Amino acid sequence: ELESTVSITVVGASGDLAKKKIFPALFALFYEDCIPQHFTIFGYARTRLTDEEMRNMISKTLACRIDKRANCSDKMEQFLQRCFYHSGEYGLEENFSELDRKLKEQEVGRLANRLFYLSIPPNIFVDVVRCASRSASSPTGWTRVIVEKPFGRDSQSSAELTQSLKQYLTEDQIFRIDHYLGKELVENLSVLRFSNLVFEPLWSRQFIRNVQLIFSEDFGTEGRGGYFDNYGIIRDIMQNHLLQILALFAMETPVSLAAEDIRNEKVKVLRSMRVLQLDDVVVGQYKGHTKGGRSYPAYVDDPTVPKGSLTPTFAAAALFIDNARWDGVPFLMKAGKALHTGRAEIRVQFRHVPGNLYKRNFGSDLDKATNELVIRVQPDEAIYLKINNKVPGLNMRLDRSNLNLLYAARYPIEIPDAYERLLMDAIEGERRLFIRSDELDAAWAIFTPVLKELEEKRIAPELYPYGSRGPVGAYYLAAKHNVRWGDLS
Ligand code: BG6
Repeated sequence: ELESTVSITVVGASGDLAKKKIFPALFALFYEDCIPQHFTIFGYARTRLTDEEMRNMISKTLACRIDKRANCSDKMEQFLQRCFYHSGEYGLEENFSELDRKLKEQEVGRLANRLFYLSIPPNIFVDVVRCASRSASSPTGWTRVIVEKPFGRDSQSSAELTQSLKQYLTEDQIFRIDHYLGKELVENLSVLRFSNLVFEPLWSRQFIRNVQLIFSEDFGTEGRGGYFDNYGIIRDIMQNHLLQILALFAMETPVSLAAEDIRNEKVKVLRSMRVLQLDDVVVGQYKGHTKGGRSYPAYVDDPTVPKGSLTPTFAAAALFIDNARWDGVPFLMKAGKALHTGRAEIRVQFRHVPGNLYKRNFGSDLDKATNELVIRVQPDEAIYLKINNKVPGLNMRLDRSNLNLLYAARYPIEIPDAYERLLMDAIEGERRLFIRSDELDAAWAIFTPVLKELEEKRIAPELYPYGSRGPVGAYYLAAKHNVRWGDLS
């Protein structure tokens, strides 16, 4: 029986994502012995580089998990020796045939599996897939392609992209990545829910008042304005990252942990969601601001952003799942760039205790006395539960306290980057954390009408100062649904 080998070709090797995330993740997997022993990595891009130049380029970004670990530099050297480069056009089959020849030289005598990572702009996805599948797919083993978003701009363009890819690849070969699904606390969501008796029975409209999915960054689109302006925050963060978290959070119990079982449940919950309405959306855009003698640019100051752009860099939305479990529970999303803090978290606000004996101890604001479960995805990973507690002493004074699982304290190890898990899964053929095409359709169906309406009506975003908490409209939207943002109270 032939031994197998895996060749990983990073298409768009000189781009930002490849340098910042993909090569370092591949190295980490190698360092941890989590990729097959025999592997080859190829960088593919238009820039002319020698193997040595490519090794130089990526070696700067590689790091050992814990810096001073033994034999890190040896490992790095071994890793770099497995890295090669091929320069070519993205739409030229003959360039991919040349790559194929080079791959074969590395694969001699082995069962060759091939993984292509498309780290390129969406307008060349299909060209690359056509060339790679025709001229560089594996003659002996599997061929898989990892695709990064954007998967289209709306339902129609996404369906078109899916159709075009299907001319060359089967659904099984396509790994649509959403890197939020590779984050440790997102992966943990289902463990938390399904293996703790104290949570799952409460996971419904009966006990949960609202759920909040919050994403913020404390920097703007610096340098990425050209890409971003064509998409905006709803497509960049909400329709994928936050919605994926929502689906995992709200889905019914899957039959098993098998990829298809989980994805079936995710599709079901997404299809039960109400189409988002314009009056349940608030959009914002950051404006320039001076603070402490430093001035921060407006979104439209970015030279790659067209003057007068109405693209939202902030959005808040109220979503609903029309099924038996979640009927009437608002799922509020908030996502923004250039805000006062950088964070991603899920907040679950529970209902009031019926007939609460301690009502009078809470003053007039009973809402503040309900339990809240916070799952902080980043930066400092944590799960905490706000509970009411008696302040020790002779008086009956109540206090809000946290049962707090802070990862840094409980698990003193470095948490792997999301890309490490996802790359490892793709190599192993584990599809659980990748987006199936019907999930994608369901996700677009929720957001497409409102995205169209925002653009057609040229709705102006509410301006908010760089580094602030975002537009006040987000408070009103929450208040309309009887919700108070947990991150602001
Ligand atoms: C990407 C978005 O998908 O996610 C970026 O395109 C965003 O705009 C990034 O900055 C955030 O990812 P992370 O892992 O840094 O939170």
